Formats: sequence, C-alpha cells, structure tokens
Amino acid sequence: MSTVMNAVEKIERLGVSDLLSDRDLTRSDLNLIFQLAQNIKSSPRSYARALEGKQLAMIFEKPSLRTRVTFEVGMTGLGGHAIYLDHAKPRLGERESIRDVARNLERWVDGIVARTFAHSAVTELAENASIPVINALTDLCHPCQAIGDYFTLGEKFGKLKGLKLAFIGDGNNMCHSLMVTGAKLGVSVNVATPNGFEPKPEFVEDAKACARRTGAKIQLFHDPVEAARGANAVYTDVWASMGQEYAAHIRAQVFAPFQVTSELMAAADPGAVFMHCLPAHRGQEVTGEVIDSPYSIVYDQAENRLHVQKALMILLMGNGHA
Ligand code: CP
Ligand code: NVA
Repeated sequence: MSTVMNAVEKIERLGVSDLLSDRDLTRSDLNLIFQLAQNIKSSPRSYARALEGKQLAMIFEKPSLRTRVTFEVGMTGLGGHAIYLDHAKPRLGERESIRDVARNLERWVDGIVARTFAHSAVTELAENASIPVINALTDLCHPCQAIGDYFTLGEKFGKLKGLKLAFIGDGNNMCHSLMVTGAKLGVSVNVATPNGFEPKPEFVEDAKACARRTGAKIQLFHDPVEAARGANAVYTDVWASMGQEYAAHIRAQVFAPFQVTSELMAAADPGAVFMHCLPAHRGQEVTGEVIDSPYSIVYDQAENRLHVQKALMILLMGNGHA
C-alpha cells in the first residue's frame, strides 16, 4: 500500500446534516464536496474503508438507473452496504407514516437516500430521523445531479465562475437545481421554456439572490436561441418528468420548438458542451446528432455522480476521517 493509501485524511464537515435541497448548501460546502470528489476520483482505493460498517437505506418511489447504481456502488466502494427499498407501490407514507419509517430506519442504518414525488416526503423523513437524509430527486429538485453536473463542467473548463449555462425545456426539478447551485458557484444560468412552463418563482428568486452575491446572472426567456446565445453549456432534460407521463403527448407538441439541435448549438459559444441528466429521448428534447456528438459530455456527467455522491456520503455519514 502506498503512503497515500495509509494516510488518515481529516475530513471537514458540511454546514448541514442532510441534503434536502440545493438551497441548503453554501458555496464553501460545494467546494468541499468538489475537492473531496476530485481526490476520490483520482484515488478511489484510498477511500475503500471510509464508511466501513455503515449501512444506507435507499427509498425509491420512482424508477432510477444512475442514482440507484451510483449510490449502491458508491457505498460498496467506501466499505459500506446499501439496501434498496422499492416504494413504487405502496408509496412512502401509505403503509405506515413517514415518521414511523424514519424512526425505524434510524435504529438500523446510518443514512437514508430518498427519491419521492412530494418534496415534503424527504423533509418529513429528515425531521423525524436523527441520521442524514439525502434527496435523490423529488418533484422540486435534484441536488445530487446538479452537484455532479457542475463538478463535470468545472473539469471541462478548469473553472466555474464566469461560465454561462443555458437550460432549454421544462422549468422542472432539474432546472431549479441547476439555477440555484449554478448561482452559488458564480455560473450564469439562462432558462428558456414555453409559456406557462417557467421554473417556480421561489427558486428563481433564491437563485437571483445567490447570483447577486457571486456576480452571476439568472435570466428567463421564451426563445431558446436567445437563451443559448454565447453559452458555454447547453443543457436539456425530458419534456415529461416522472409522474407526468399522462401529459407526454400534449407536452411533445408544446415543447417541439425547444428541441436542442445542431442549429441551436450553433448559437452557443463555439467551445460549448451539451449536457443532459439522462434518461434522454433522442428525437424529442435533443437530436441524436447532438447527444452523440464529440461535444456531448452526458456520460461524464453520469460517471461523476458516483464520485460526488461518495464525497457527499463521507461528509454526511463519515466519522470525520477517511
Ligand atoms: N439522472 C438521473 O438521476 O438518472 P436516474 O433517474 O436513472 O437515477
Ligand atoms: N426531470 C426528470 C429528471 C430525471 C433524472 C424527472 O423528474 O423525471
């Protein structure tokens, strides 16, 4: 074993004990996560025992590939163990109260990851459990994805402050998280949505307040070309999120002018990258030509979910050293 692998690294703590929303983290929390994620990415074996003996419960009301696999593989890679709890049916709180679920789980495990429809379900878990709760996507936000995405953008450009990201499509959970976390990191975020599909005003206001402190700008548009102009990254997401499948047909018509095409990418900066949280629907929110192009970084985003979530779990569930 190398000296590095024998070294006991003192790990600082985040300013919060749960990750429920992008609104919870400060810029220095984000930098701490990025720094640790970078170390983990370059030397994963050094952290093979960071969460030895720890148990994680993963509650999912909605489907998942990336989030489920990265948390489970991440936990195993840190020496711990993850348990998947399928809550597609019954949903959380239906068989027994969320309070009782929290008060049982805290007796057996060291952390909870939860993907729910209602955002209040993750906050209720956190209010009732003495162990850390991590939001793995709710109808309101997807903080783990946004953290991984900005980590990826930082890797590509060697900096974050001063960059501009254009989010094209639905003013949804991903849009909320990218605006708020971007603003905290000094990244300007342009959002283009159809009329009536704008992000929620409380997230816009919050992002604008953060942006004022970091010198970034948050702007809403209804014209995708205007939003994409000069952007360093063009980001899109599905037009019908999980739970909105019933409206997919009508949404496909409303969102058609918001498809990310090579023509739209031409409005961005010449060195711009394309981003998507995935799952993607080629031919709907993005053309195959764009998502499968050399400037698409979607699989790097997916990979980095693993490294940033390992960092997050160590910071929230660890004993202060690795
Ligand atoms: N991006 C993301 O969260 O993917 P999954 O829905 O597959 O977890
Ligand atoms: N907005 C999408 C994100 C999937 C990762 C959804 O909620 O389905």
